[in-house]
Amino acid sequence: MSSQTTFEIEDKFMAPFFIKQKISIEKGDGIYVWDEEGHRYIDFTSGWGVTCVGHAQPVITEALLKQSGKILQNPNSGLTYSPARAELLLLMQKVLPSHLSRIFFANSGAEANDAAIKLARKVTGRMDVISTHKSFHGRTISTASATGQAAHREKFNPLMPNYRFVTYGDLKDLEETLDENVAAFILEPIQGEGGVHIPSGEYLKKAENLCRKNGTLLIADEVQTGFCRTGPMFVTESLGVQADFLTMAKGIAGGFPFGAFAMSETVAEKLEIGDHGGTYCGNPLGCAVAHAVIKYLVDHNISTNVDRMGRLAMKKMGQFQQDFPNTINDVRGKGLLLLIEFKEEDTATRVSDECLQQKLFVRQTQGDGIRIFPALNIKEDEMEEGLEILRSAIETVVNQKR
Ligand SMILES: Cc1ncc(COP(=O)(O)O)c(C=O)c1O
Repeated sequence: MSSQTTFEIEDKFMAPFFIKQKISIEKGDGIYVWDEEGHRYIDFTSGWGVTCVGHAQPVITEALLKQSGKILQNPNSGLTYSPARAELLLLMQKVLPSHLSRIFFANSGAEANDAAIKLARKVTGRMDVISTHKSFHGRTISTASATGQAAHREKFNPLMPNYRFVTYGDLKDLEETLDENVAAFILEPIQGEGGVHIPSGEYLKKAENLCRKNGTLLIADEVQTGFCRTGPMFVTESLGVQADFLTMAKGIAGGFPFGAFAMSETVAEKLEIGDHGGTYCGNPLGCAVAHAVIKYLVDHNISTNVDRMGRLAMKKMGQFQQDFPNTINDVRGKGLLLLIEFKEEDTATRVSDECLQQKLFVRQTQGDGIRIFPALNIKEDEMEEGLEILRSAIETVVNQKR
């Protein structure tokens, strides 16, 4: 098939939710992808924080082949046992914060969050949920209701009731909003989609303490930050924060659609047979892939690479800001979750377009930002190659605007 044919078919038959980029990707390798005509691009989005160990990663191919040759889905799904699921559970026990001893599986981040919210209500017998402005928790009706961005909520009224919002990073606001009706506080340890906002070091721990004092469960949404995206395996653990639920997806299976949520024993004790389920329930194929990905992250000490590459990128981005002070407002991020904030949305759009012209995928975020979140095993020369294109794209746009 040619790109042109692919465009025509997708434009005609796919639901119209996206302004599409006219590029049809056929294959990938590491941080690189190729379109149907054989043009090579660098992917600094890792498919929106998903392909954390790179495209066409051999350990994933091997796990897919091996497991699919055995079994994809168990008879009676979660009612029967699976060695692939057991192996994944064992490995997750090693990488998760130790108090999160019970795990269940989902197919996406939204689904994991949805389940955590639902179960928090059951466990506490309370109805209200607090979330933060600018947060993103998913696109199901309950997670859209928990998302603190008008664009993702307003069109879908009536939303789920009993959601309240506080300012991200503001403990006083949280303290004043918590009361005896609040079942859960759902929180991203670093806001990703909302524009890469990093709260002060003590915010998460103090928020945990406020929740605990109030009998409110803390749901740490680590869908984007989990699995070494910002350096540590999980942000909450690195800060000594004990969430009651921790939700995961994206990087967990390196591109295979999969998700999970973990909970403390205290929470699990209050749950009963039938409180949750689903058709897939930790489908053996997903489990085998997630196992391969997490093992890769651990065996290759990916955390260290993320720290190193993140520092390198921040240094270069800082240089961009110095070189283009009238164009760039801020550069920020942690590990490999990074953002350049431009002074004008139009500049971000044009830089993003120019990057694509120069064969680099970046993600425009919140209008004026460009988010960079490449594969976590990116090499130094690859990082430099991508950042060089980014710099050149900024320079081109600045010169055009003169
Ligand atoms: C923090 C966070 N939570 C939840 C989600 C939703 O995940 P999914 O798209 O897999 O449903 C996202 C997606 O970007 C996210 O960034």
